Amino acid sequence: MYRLQNIFAILNFLIIFHTISGAEEHCDSMTEIYDPDQLKCVLKVGSSCLSQEEKCAPGSHCVVAIDGIKRCSCFGAKSKSENGTCLLSNNEFCGSSLLKQCDFEQGLVCKQGYCSCKYGQFQRFNITLEKCVSTVPGPCNNFTKCVENAHCSENLETFQQCVCSQGFIAVGGHCQLDYGEKCEYIHNYRGSHYNFNSFTCDTAAPLKCIDGICQCENLEEYDTNMKICRGLVGTVCSLKNEEYCTENGECGMRRDRHLFPRRGQLDGFCKCKTGSSANSKKRCVR
Ligand SMILES: *[C@@H]1O[C@H](CO)[C@@H](O)[C@H](O)[C@H]1NC(C)=O
Ligand SMILES: *[C@@H]1O[C@H](CO)[C@@H](O)[C@H](O)[C@H]1NC(C)=O
Ligand SMILES: *[C@@H]1O[C@H](CO)[C@@H](O)[C@H](O)[C@H]1NC(C)=O
Repeated sequence: MYRLQNIFAILNFLIIFHTISGAEEHCDSMTEIYDPDQLKCVLKVGSSCLSQEEKCAPGSHCVVAIDGIKRCSCFGAKSKSENGTCLLSNNEFCGSSLLKQCDFEQGLVCKQGYCSCKYGQFQRFNITLEKCVSTVPGPCNNFTKCVENAHCSENLETFQQCVCSQGFIAVGGHCQLDYGEKCEYIHNYRGSHYNFNSFTCDTAAPLKCIDGICQCENLEEYDTNMKICRGLVGTVCSLKNEEYCTENGECGMRRDRHLFPRRGQLDGFCKCKTGSSANSKKRCVR
């Protein structure tokens, strides 16, 4: 027991000694760098190494470089290095030490131990660009770009903001084709996944790409003020969505509901409110 305590005391002393003695001074400044997390010298990025086992700086490994010599190289072909360390990309573990810095040029900062976009919820990390881009209406400047089909508004004095370009409308921070715009192909959004891209019609309205134009489905009309598709008289609707039916209309219970017991209990159809009646265009007029 006595001996065990002694060993602990010695170990403790060694660790403290190692930490306070400025162990970095023992590193070869040309090829090595001190890693305070591991309490030892590691090889800088670009230094020649002998084997996989040889200790390269965090985020790098020992591989054959372009010059045919084995060198510590950052993981990932595009990752950049600075001062002999690898700059970390999105979602990588980070910290305060020099060896665990996020790539600021990608718009990243260290938050709760992970590299993430500086403006958080107002940004997305674009893997292709390897940069954080701002969503609408996120902050932007010469350095921080906006998502596709958006640009940085220049008329604001205090700060600049991403806005959708002409012909696009913001949906969930992204810009989608507005009503009446030319669209390139049909997307079906009945599934669970929303695939935002430059040729998607406004999925919030929701508009469909029909005959190459973003428009509402048959038996619906577009409300330019509310920017939604509304059901004409006779269109199937949900009793939960009060705004859906055309002006002066409402979602009424289906009279034939008992014939469709498996249908949603909230299913109905658009009908005219009391005091108005349907015209030939299936709108409700008083
Ligand atoms: C690299 O070194 C320079 C000069 O010492 C310093 O200004 C810069 O912040 C360092 N880069 C990183 C990522 O720490
Ligand atoms: C990333 O940016 C490029 C260029 O603007 C764009 O084509 C691509 O769709 C973007 N990716 C995502 C996931 O937003
Ligand atoms: C941003 O870019 C514009 C045009 O290229 C330039 O006039 C302006 O000085 C830049 N602003 C900053 C802060 O770099």
